[in-house]
Amino acid sequence: MTVPNSGSEAGRHGPLPDDHVIVLFGATGDLARRKLLPGLFHLAKAGLLPARYRIVGSAPAAVAPSDEGFRAHARDAVAEFGRSKPEGPAWQKFEDALSFGAADPDATEPLLTAVERAERSVGGSPRRLFHLAVPPAAFTSVVDMLGATGLADNARLIVEKPFGTDLRSAQALNSTIHAVFDESRVFRIDHFLGKESVDNILALRFANGLFEPVWNRDHISHVQIDVPEKIAIEGRAKFFEGTGTFRDMIVTHLFQLLGFVAMEPPATLAAQLLRDEKEKVFQSLRPLDPAHVVRGQYDGYRDEPGVDPRSDTETFVALRVYVDNWRWSGVPFYLRSGKALEQGRHVVTLGFREPVLRMFPAVSSGAHGPRNNELVIDFDDPGRIAARFLVKEPGPDMRLGEAEMLFSYAESFNTRYALEGYERLILDAMVGDQALFTRSDGIERLWEASTPLLDNPPPVQPYAPGSWGPERVHRLIAPHRWFLPDKR
Ligand code: BG6
Repeated sequence: MTVPNSGSEAGRHGPLPDDHVIVLFGATGDLARRKLLPGLFHLAKAGLLPARYRIVGSAPAAVAPSDEGFRAHARDAVAEFGRSKPEGPAWQKFEDALSFGAADPDATEPLLTAVERAERSVGGSPRRLFHLAVPPAAFTSVVDMLGATGLADNARLIVEKPFGTDLRSAQALNSTIHAVFDESRVFRIDHFLGKESVDNILALRFANGLFEPVWNRDHISHVQIDVPEKIAIEGRAKFFEGTGTFRDMIVTHLFQLLGFVAMEPPATLAAQLLRDEKEKVFQSLRPLDPAHVVRGQYDGYRDEPGVDPRSDTETFVALRVYVDNWRWSGVPFYLRSGKALEQGRHVVTLGFREPVLRMFPAVSSGAHGPRNNELVIDFDDPGRIAARFLVKEPGPDMRLGEAEMLFSYAESFNTRYALEGYERLILDAMVGDQALFTRSDGIERLWEASTPLLDNPPPVQPYAPGSWGPERVHRLIAPHRWFLPDKR
């Protein structure tokens, strides 16, 4: 793993990538517009792209723009979604590096010509990086085409999620990819793992003597990984109907976070060792019990354009899962994510056990009574970490009140040059660092553990948009309770 971005332009100590030709499949799609093109420009502005690079957009010929059209598309995308505006010499240089090459499985000439031109203008033997920002159904044909045309030589591959929809499809996709790219060149991207706070979970746990000694079943009663979203499906009916929240958010993002929260200390932060420890967590994940799962669907989902009026797709899911190993045996992990909820948040909460002896009068703190100690990691970029505990209230009586110690990234460091998830991960892929990418055995194991739920999903429960999901989520977590909403 490269030394994480320290928050200043000069602060990144990792190696700069070799010269590159980056090919974006799906370059005219939503992900490229919202995240990838703005992210690449941010990397360019931060001085983190290679000394010499070119970016070739690609899409089927039917929707392919000219080079000029692609540059205008990129300019609009960066203007709308970028943190750095598309202007000045930095933009000009970036724009000059953009070109387009259409590709269909049986008509690859325009792409081959565009890549060849891009490589010539970079000079020498630049590395190739292919980013598959295309619907999963197209992964196989693009990978086959990269193999058949020889484009895969000397290349790395970034694959978007969801990586399969169950164990069999993930295995099939892995074997398609491995026929062309060996595992050391495959980067299954999960943008949550590029968020600063995931690095920070590692730092918090393994750079301090304070937390790790209590990071286990002796002291922790339960863990919550909670990613509610305020947005609904935002016109993504086609994608969502075939995917649902479990596949879209849990297998991809929340299980990955669980891996970092639950892992044993790796011997070093080297990619292989770090991933070995994360995969061991997945090996210990108890197969999901459908009785410990609440699936929900927001009222009005079935009326969204493109949604089946009898759809059983979940827009919300909450689960209780167990990691059956020495550190976590018996500790429930609660995972929750859903669309159209009251808030958009990213929060990991560790709930601590009560002290062995109650010698203080009960705390009066609102309708729900006091909480036990909690460590709350809020990984909204740039993020916060809070320790919540009890103190004595001032006054003659021994009365306890709830208190919080708070670390806020934004107030403590200059986060101006911090990288967003995608930016960080594209950079890591360019330098060949796989630490924050999912390995083939890990993703297959997650699908395997999910099989009982996929085979037997409980029916969806309705919930009101703007709520916190179906009522049953409270029963799922009892006797504990959800940390969110934190403002009552
Ligand atoms: C994507 C999912 O991977 O992550 C979306 O497909 C979801 O449905 C998004 O909204 C959430 O990402 P973030 O970084 O905005 O929390």
